[in-house]
Amino acid sequence: MAISRGLENVFVDETAICYIDGAQGRLLYCGYDIVDLAARSTFEETAFILWHRRLPKKAELEELRRQLAENRPIPPEILDLIKSMPRTAHPMDVLRTAVSALASYDPELNQNTPDANLRKAIRLTAKFPTITAAYHRTRQGLAVVKPDPKRGLGEDFLRMLLGRDPDDLMARIMDVCLILHAEHGMNASTFGGVVTASTLSDLYSAVVAAIGTLKGPLHGGANEEVMKMLLEVKTAENADEYVVSGLQAKRKLSGFGHRVYKSYDPRATILKDYAQRLSEQKGDLTLFETAEAVEKVMVREVGPKGIYPNVDFFSGIVYHLMGIPHDLFTPIFAVSRITGWTAHVLEYWEDNRIMRPLDLYNGPRSAEYTPIEKR
Ligand code: SDX
Repeated sequence: MAISRGLENVFVDETAICYIDGAQGRLLYCGYDIVDLAARSTFEETAFILWHRRLPKKAELEELRRQLAENRPIPPEILDLIKSMPRTAHPMDVLRTAVSALASYDPELNQNTPDANLRKAIRLTAKFPTITAAYHRTRQGLAVVKPDPKRGLGEDFLRMLLGRDPDDLMARIMDVCLILHAEHGMNASTFGGVVTASTLSDLYSAVVAAIGTLKGPLHGGANEEVMKMLLEVKTAENADEYVVSGLQAKRKLSGFGHRVYKSYDPRATILKDYAQRLSEQKGDLTLFETAEAVEKVMVREVGPKGIYPNVDFFSGIVYHLMGIPHDLFTPIFAVSRITGWTAHVLEYWEDNRIMRPLDLYNGPRSAEYTPIEKR
């Protein structure tokens, strides 16, 4: 009866969706290397690959783009719900709440056929950006920006979020960020969604479970924590003292370490390059140099233990330099990962089995029930 806390090294299923080589730092979506996808694909094409496990033909990709654009608007009742949320609410809580309410407006909510579930996956993927952007505009007291079906998802997300047309570089960087965050095997939030789906509950319930799981600072919430850390470090000169004292205090520095990667997370490598390019374009390298200094000390101190930067370490710098507030970093992760979550749920439902692990009892075996008067 070997207990594997955190389910470390436990395989719950086979999958054709994602391969992670933790030792070599390689990540494949259905066999396609994310280095290729980040350089040559789009988020919409990546979503198609995850849902269909192959590249789309031109007409198929155009049809998916059309469906994602057509489904981007949200019901007015959901907009009203978003507007009723307190302006101090965390955007992840608003996303979780809005998706939960959205379920009751989906006519196919309880249709559990593969085709209906794919249609729901598309509708959810289409609406995550709109929900997130609508709340951000509302909490600033600004008018909500309506979706523009002529634009791709990443570009229109930025436009709805920031209220202005992004330039080509910004639009491309957002698209690449969405590609890089789309899928990562049986990570905690995907597992949370699959556990919920394994009881044959509905896709929306599975996604709400995944959103709540992603929010945690050990998982998707780490990107927001990284920014807090970098702002505390302030300059590259402080990095050595900050990191060494943090490690001595047994703190786990956000943006580093991974259950699977014991080498560089390939996503971090790509995001670092964009963080540097954006910093140079903005003419402000302070944040990037601070991050590089932290990275250098961490790799020196704990690299030998297999602890390296993960996807969350440089993503925050990219979003910060794009003018995106820090509490929106994890919702951006969700805007992308909705594709991986739904891909794994649909795959698991192909041969469903309810998840029901054991836990080893270590309590008393024969406790005597005494009447309350005698306690
Ligand atoms: C994501 O699973 C996925 O695929 C997730 C993800 C995805 O795409 O879905 O990749 C996205 O969530 C990335 C991870 C973001 N989280 C963080 O950056 C938070 C900081 N990282 C750590 O909390 C930790 O590394 C985890 C949670 C990511 C992994 O935790 P594990 O595998 O349970 O490792 P552990 O906590 O048992 O640590 C093992 C050892 C410990 O040292 P010892 O007690 O053995 O001496 O490594 C040390 C830890 O103290 N360690 C760290 C560290 N992470 C691990 N020490 C300092 N700083 C860190 N960040």
